[in-house]
Amino acid sequence: DDDVNEKIDYVFKVVVIGDSSVGKTQMLSRFAKNEFCFDSKSTIGVEFQTRTLTINGKVIKAQIWDTAGQERYRAVTSAYYRGALGAMLVYDITKRDSFDHVTRWIEELRSHADSSIVIMLIGNKCDLVDLRMVSTEDAIEFAEEQGLFFSETSALNGNNVESAFLKLLQEIH
Ligand code: GTP
Repeated sequence: DDDVNEKIDYVFKVVVIGDSSVGKTQMLSRFAKNEFCFDSKSTIGVEFQTRTLTINGKVIKAQIWDTAGQERYRAVTSAYYRGALGAMLVYDITKRDSFDHVTRWIEELRSHADSSIVIMLIGNKCDLVDLRMVSTEDAIEFAEEQGLFFSETSALNGNNVESAFLKLLQEIH
């Protein structure tokens, strides 16, 4: 692990959810390893990565869970959400459907996750400016209605990925 000798004050479980191919796995790789993989394969089942960081003087181990967006590869619901303190709900700014489906993902969170879970709505792939199908204004309005934090990111160039995860972890803390 990254800091084996460091005393961990808290372990925070965060889940990443959203439709298939919105970039969940790449968001996580960017945050946990500062890596991006162009030929990313669909996630099957569940994987997790960790990163240890200091927030407000406390050593936080973020344990971030990634699962398949595709229904047929999803082996989990309750177990996946159990103990989760935060959720990254990701859509793709170039795929209107993935934004329209956010309400379904919120329903899933409301029925399986703890009611106090902190949710961050993420519009990913904001590097694809010419292909944008979801406006920032629509997303901000929706996030406000639903009481979600919001950010637009690019796992590809790294834009806002770090700050979005930090914001989520800070709000948990
Ligand atoms: P599932 O595992 O099927 O649920 O998909 P996922 O949401 O984990 O998507 P993944 O991270 O595998 O990315 C899907 C595709 O989008 C891959 O081809 C990535 O290279 C690409 N991708 C991910 N993030 C970005 C981004 O920020 N910008 C661009 N341009 N492409 C991205």
